[in-house]
Amino acid sequence: MDKIRIVGGNALSGTIPISGAKNAALPLMIAGLLTPDRLTLENVPRLRDVALLQRILTNHGVDYSLDGKRPGQDPLAGQTIHFQARDIVDTTAPYELVSQMRASFWVIGPLLARMGEARVSLPGGCAIGTRPVDFFISGLKALGADIDIDRGYVVARAPGGRLLGGRVTFPKVSVGATHTVMMAATLAKGETVIENAAREPEVVDLAACLVAMGAEIEGAGTETIRIQGKRDLHGAWHSVLPDRIETGTYAMAVAMTGGSLDLVNTAPELLSSALGVLADAGVSIEPLKTGIRVRRDGGGIRPVDVTTEPFPGFPTDLQAQFMALMTRAEGTTRITETIFENRFMHVAELVRLGARIHLDGQVATVEGVDRLIGAPVMATDLRASVSLVIAGLAAEGDTTVSRVYHLDRGFERLEEKLSRCGAAIERLSGEGSR
Ligand code: UD1
Repeated sequence: MDKIRIVGGNALSGTIPISGAKNAALPLMIAGLLTPDRLTLENVPRLRDVALLQRILTNHGVDYSLDGKRPGQDPLAGQTIHFQARDIVDTTAPYELVSQMRASFWVIGPLLARMGEARVSLPGGCAIGTRPVDFFISGLKALGADIDIDRGYVVARAPGGRLLGGRVTFPKVSVGATHTVMMAATLAKGETVIENAAREPEVVDLAACLVAMGAEIEGAGTETIRIQGKRDLHGAWHSVLPDRIETGTYAMAVAMTGGSLDLVNTAPELLSSALGVLADAGVSIEPLKTGIRVRRDGGGIRPVDVTTEPFPGFPTDLQAQFMALMTRAEGTTRITETIFENRFMHVAELVRLGARIHLDGQVATVEGVDRLIGAPVMATDLRASVSLVIAGLAAEGDTTVSRVYHLDRGFERLEEKLSRCGAAIERLSGEGSR
């Protein structure tokens, strides 16, 4: 298994191109199931989760082809992938595939809407909490679906072969349930209204792509989304929006090490709340034409309390990275996690690097220390693993992060992007690195 080795202490300086968002690319790829025509996605990141979803979609009958690299193209430029679900050959998404990535459960929406039936494995638990699917079930039922749970599978049928528009009110904001019900509603008969919808930029991006495919959707990005169902959708061409979590991660990395990074192909409005928190912590943020310059010169890091919230609040997907930064703050920070019940797996690993963190339920109290010291640490989930990299960049001496397959799920060429900007970071591949 690969490991990442970091020798801490170098300031970061240079330019990092931000990839297309994983969390936008996945639902966009799934939206390709809604039409027999070709959906082309540009700026798709090269990630393990994208490759895995390609495998899952192939199982349902989706053909895909990749545009070759253009001569002289930056190896970090996103890829263009054409998807075509001419015939859906299988409406079952099996446990072996769904259990590897929760987002693959979302195929239930398009499969049910287009084929009138779907049988999708329950995703099971994951490291950051139980993550149930009750909102998906109640949402699809509101669109007229009959749903049973049979031996670990959600079996959904649309009576008469077609879903009917309905009113869905989510008890709590859910990104995945909003994506799924919105996709399903595009082919339902009549109007669907989703109340307490997720307002994340990835929901807006999916809606834009669905509209390009012929759907009629209003209100994406607000709490209420209205969808007028259509008989069919058609093909489209769509560019995946920039990854706000990757942007925030590198912003926190340079806040940690000091120096100056130009984060390009991204947009500050995608992460205003996190950038506001960084500014409060004493980090300079300037807009660029297609991104931001993030800089910290000599000054220290001020502690700032943070509570994770659905968009536009501070994202749970940046909580671990922010905690890494606050381990070096000049004072004490309280970080409250409200989205997932077990998203503090990185705490024990950060403590191995010398951080002082006290956990009490959903609140972590981080007492800033003068220095972190490198040590072997273990990645536990996607965002937690990158927080260890950030901490390692500022720690004295060697840090090795093992189980980096978590990182490869969501961060494209992380070590290349960071080493181009002066970090001493390398991947130790294979058996030899055990
Ligand atoms: C998505 C993101 C993930 C991010 C999360 C919150 C993708 C691929 N993943 O995950 O990176 O951390 O949003 O911003 O886009 N819930 C229920 N019942 C349900 C569905 C959800 O109780 O049926 C709960 C969850 O347990 C959690 C909360 O709702 O406590 C929010 O989860 P949700 O927004 O659904 O997260 P995901 O869509 O899985």
